[in-house]
Amino acid sequence: MENFQICTPTNLVFGKGTQHQIGELIKPYGKKVLLHYGGGSVKKIGLYDDTVNSLKKAGVDFVELGGVVPNPRLSLVQEGIKLCKAEGVDFILAIGGGSAIDSAKAIAAGMCYDGDVWDLFEGIAPLTKALPMATVLTIPAAGSEMSNSAVVSNEEKGRKYGIGGDCIRPVVSIVNPEYFTTLPKNQIANGVADILSHMFERYFTHTKNCDVTDRMLEAVIKSVMKYALVVINDPSNYEAWAEVGLGGIIAHNNWLGIGRQQDWASHNMEHELSAYNDIAHGAGLAVVTPAWMKYVYKENIGMFVQFAVNVMGVSHSHREPEALVQEGIARLEEFFGKMGLAQTLGELNIPESAFEDMAKKATGAYFGQERGIGSFKKLMWQDVVEIYKLCR
Ligand code: NZQ
Ligand code: ZN
Repeated sequence: MENFQICTPTNLVFGKGTQHQIGELIKPYGKKVLLHYGGGSVKKIGLYDDTVNSLKKAGVDFVELGGVVPNPRLSLVQEGIKLCKAEGVDFILAIGGGSAIDSAKAIAAGMCYDGDVWDLFEGIAPLTKALPMATVLTIPAAGSEMSNSAVVSNEEKGRKYGIGGDCIRPVVSIVNPEYFTTLPKNQIANGVADILSHMFERYFTHTKNCDVTDRMLEAVIKSVMKYALVVINDPSNYEAWAEVGLGGIIAHNNWLGIGRQQDWASHNMEHELSAYNDIAHGAGLAVVTPAWMKYVYKENIGMFVQFAVNVMGVSHSHREPEALVQEGIARLEEFFGKMGLAQTLGELNIPESAFEDMAKKATGAYFGQERGIGSFKKLMWQDVVEIYKLCR
């Protein structure tokens, strides 16, 4: 196990009716709040009204900015920063999914940086400071409600980049799984694929002696898969949603990743798909992940045998390791199929002619700074093209 340090101070409030506490919970942190959200869903599900009422009841002054779209845009982040400066905002509250939350985190970071906020995403300036922010989550997926990262799309440059740092971890997050019951099936499936990927990125490692986190990861992956199949068929099942929701938080607050080398190549490859065709992050991951597994498993076949047996329930008896691994990956593909997820890049309208371009962007080769991505197997742009080709 490697040395690690983890600090996850988010005050996490989970369960039915918890959204009514938001005003009182954030009151100590700021004098004026930006209420930030996406399209119409928060209004349809009643969260917008509940939030406004709670803020008013607690005497919290606020201004609002809606309109965040999936794969949140830099232009709205910049508009948000301008608004916050003009209004003297000192706290950001996001209500919605990962996109609204990430847009809010970017505004919070941009408020504490003198130049263009995109500098932080390009690594021109380090992320060291942000306004405090809070969330009320409406979709279990990105894990941004307790993560230290945010991902934003620069629509002009056609790039989707992330920033990371403890200063953008929410100080308060409310997760009420009742809100998940209104999700359309495709969003349920996308969210589950993202949650699982956050655990795969941590699970497949060369770091030895990580039994505690290995077993924790296996338990949470299996539980999320089990209850994902329940909610995809019965989105009204609160108890099943509570399991998926808790799984989604733990999947990405990094308690499952401590002390082990993590990979993140699949996420890097997927961000190029989202940037290319504005597809949902989870939809891209469901296609890229099995292909990545097929390409890299020989780097540490023991890890993939463990996955096949402990997670996918493949029987150990009379099987060669290769066959066990192939069966494990096939079962994962079958699971994504049952969730109704696309299985090929063609279905996501991403043609083979785009592969080289995306691969060079993902690895930095385009910008003369090819660094390679991933750690389970370091991937250069040619490897990434091969993986895109394996996306059947
Ligand atoms: O815009 P509205 O109207 O709110 O509709 C949203 C959106 O269309 C809808 N939705 C959300 N909750 C709903 C609902 N519809 C009905 N009922 C509800 N309760 O769902 C759609 C997707 O929302 P979005 O916020 O985009 O989804 P998600 O949470 O999957 O976030 C995706 C973004 O998070 C980033 C992704 O790259 C992507 O940009 N990620 C952020 C991470 C982080 N900050 O730590 C890590 C992840 O790996 C990921 O990269
Ligand atoms: Zn993700």
